[in-house]
Amino acid sequence: MAKQIKKLAILTSGGDAPGMNAAIRAVVRSAQAIGIEVTGFLDGFAGLTNDNSIALPSTAVANTIQRGGTILRTVRFPEFKEPEVRAKAIATLKRHNIDNLIVLGGDGSFRGAKLLSEESGISVIGIPCTIDNDINGTEYSIGFDTARNTALEAIDKIRDTAFSHSRNFLVEVMGRAAGFLAMDVGIAGGAEFVLVPELNMSVDALIDKMSQRQRYKMGSIIVVAEADRPGHTFEIADKIKARLDIEYKVCVLGHIQRGGSPTVRDRKIASLMGYHAVQAICSGQSKQMISYVNEHCALMPIPDVELAARNLIDTNMVDINQVLCGV
Ligand code: F6P
Repeated sequence: MAKQIKKLAILTSGGDAPGMNAAIRAVVRSAQAIGIEVTGFLDGFAGLTNDNSIALPSTAVANTIQRGGTILRTVRFPEFKEPEVRAKAIATLKRHNIDNLIVLGGDGSFRGAKLLSEESGISVIGIPCTIDNDINGTEYSIGFDTARNTALEAIDKIRDTAFSHSRNFLVEVMGRAAGFLAMDVGIAGGAEFVLVPELNMSVDALIDKMSQRQRYKMGSIIVVAEADRPGHTFEIADKIKARLDIEYKVCVLGHIQRGGSPTVRDRKIASLMGYHAVQAICSGQSKQMISYVNEHCALMPIPDVELAARNLIDTNMVDINQVLCGV
């Protein structure tokens, strides 16, 4: 059912992801093409709650497609779980006469948006953005490709010095509970081992495997997912030293993985998702996410609760990587 829409709002929430600006641009331009005015709320749900907004005419998104970060800024805002905080955000939208909201973020942000919709009748559409690529219901989240390329570039550089000095490195990558980043850059970066949270391999088991190596290497790289304890890789290095008496240098890539100019894949998918988000709003959809499945955009209902079954990596890749590295 086509809806006559005059205004819509957009915000970015949670951790930033390269490609968010391309999605904002696509929303603004797709809306403008059919006469819809766009308001941007700054600093995510905090800005929506405190009524911190800017007008987003087409010119506001010029020269942004190539920029990392988010021109709307973002914050983590757990307070949005509280009904009275959401009531303030709803009041803001009502004051602006806005009945449609597009949220760029992860599944936590989408659940907040869904509650807001249920409490107010305001239509919400989510665009999945996180370098972790772990959002259930979509095969791809904006930012992932740029982050893995950034991490890979760093690993290639570490390789240069590792092999010049015959040194070993543990490289820690982001991804929280998901091993997508670790797995992809581990395979693409020729890592000897990849430690991902999904397999929950103990450090002792890793060291057992390391001690069974058949081949001496002049230098080596192990990729470690940060999992739930960023920085834990230093402890792994200490344990390896204690058991095998082998020195491992540690490099925690950290927030460098969240920045930078988005890749072709991120810009393209962000642009398509932004366009489809506006189409979804116009066709009367709500509480849906624009998912990416089989290289196409599709609508997927935002789930009610945190799903136990998250997007998971194919753990067979860990074994395949072992074969490829000939350890
Ligand atoms: O969810 C994206 C992410 O970059 C994770 O990979 C990482 O653990 C987390 O955000 C870091 O969050 P913050 O920037 O709030 O420290």
